[in-house]
Amino acid sequence: MQTLDNYNFAGKKAFVRVDFNVPLDENFNITDDTRMVKALPTLKKILADGGSLIIGSHLGRPKKGPEDKFSLRHIVAHLSELLGTEVKFVDECVGDKVKAAVAALKPGEVLLLENLRFHAEEEGKPRGLAEDASDEEKAAAKKAIKASQKEFTKELADLADVYVNDAFGTAHRAHASTALMAEYFSPENKMFGYLMGKEVAAVDKVMKEMVRPFTAIMGGSKVSSKIDIIENLLTKVDNLIIAGGMTYTFTKALGGKIGNSICEDDKLDLALELINKAKANHVNLVLAVDAKIADDFSNDANTDFCDVDKIPDGWEGMDIGPKSEALFADVIKKSKTILWNGPTGVFEFDNFTSGSRAVAEAIVEATKNGAFSLVGGGDSVACVNKFGLADKVSYVSTGGGALLEAIEGKTLPGIAAIQG
Ligand code: 3PG
Repeated sequence: MQTLDNYNFAGKKAFVRVDFNVPLDENFNITDDTRMVKALPTLKKILADGGSLIIGSHLGRPKKGPEDKFSLRHIVAHLSELLGTEVKFVDECVGDKVKAAVAALKPGEVLLLENLRFHAEEEGKPRGLAEDASDEEKAAAKKAIKASQKEFTKELADLADVYVNDAFGTAHRAHASTALMAEYFSPENKMFGYLMGKEVAAVDKVMKEMVRPFTAIMGGSKVSSKIDIIENLLTKVDNLIIAGGMTYTFTKALGGKIGNSICEDDKLDLALELINKAKANHVNLVLAVDAKIADDFSNDANTDFCDVDKIPDGWEGMDIGPKSEALFADVIKKSKTILWNGPTGVFEFDNFTSGSRAVAEAIVEATKNGAFSLVGGGDSVACVNKFGLADKVSYVSTGGGALLEAIEGKTLPGIAAIQG
């Protein structure tokens, strides 16, 4: 497989698919530029070689074509500052304007294209279909968009000599720019960016090359949204720690009293099935034993601690309690491979961060002792950032949905398109 380091970009025009789907505030200021910062090594390497950059990304989920709030023009100034060079911007991603801008691009210059999702062809899904469209109309629209997606993809590919995919965050989408356009480049002219390479290596270290004991800590409020991940992990891990809101579905399934805690009553059988599967697979399924409870879902609610299966009516579990913290930390510290996805409680409220902090600190200690730790998927990244511990774990993923699909064991189209 081709690599960035083996490639000399001098005189080449590189299309780099990045994931600059960054959060913006109401004044369009970037509130977290992590994904941009992490793509810099790839962009800088290409510029340093004397290549020119055509940068493509999506921003948000525009469904009606161009909309200013989803325009990548909002990030131009910051990208320019990060790269230390001018970033030219064209308010389209295909068409004559783009071709002209690319033709004028000199070595060392940077061109940012407009949001790729302003065209339905990027995702390849029909837009604007009437709600009452017949099956025939739907099928015709699908056929039409697939045909125009081919042209769109080829037009993107024709802009460049070489294709670099550094968008791990979007690697689970089989979109024109994330996967399909790779077909138009020979194996020596397509490759992962540095970020993508690191993400893939981190996932492989955990899911394929794990050193045992391997512990996964899964948080999240719904068992239903994590079911595929849990099922797959039960075939891989030694210890599976269940945390977050899911705790109470498991606790109720085992006959516990959970008061007003969040629970999926229609998933109690599923929780029991998972418990049985863990036993059958000799996986140590670790559930909380106590909880920090509150009489209201707010930061300044009255609080107390109790056994996780004896939560009084009118109270709800908001975090794990100290006994669970010690139990989880003990398992984590003995591990050699650790995957953390999802906080132990409502960590957005300062009074309910203790469990997540205990997990983060245990991961840091295990990492210091030689374990490989991967933290990813939205809220657990926010946790390690909040606690100032992000640089003390082995790897923090930039992927949300992409990381989750990788942990489910799915092949990600963006990765497969390069790996072949
Ligand atoms: C993300 O933020 O997870 C990625 O940018 C993918 O975005 P999407 O879920 O809209 O495809």
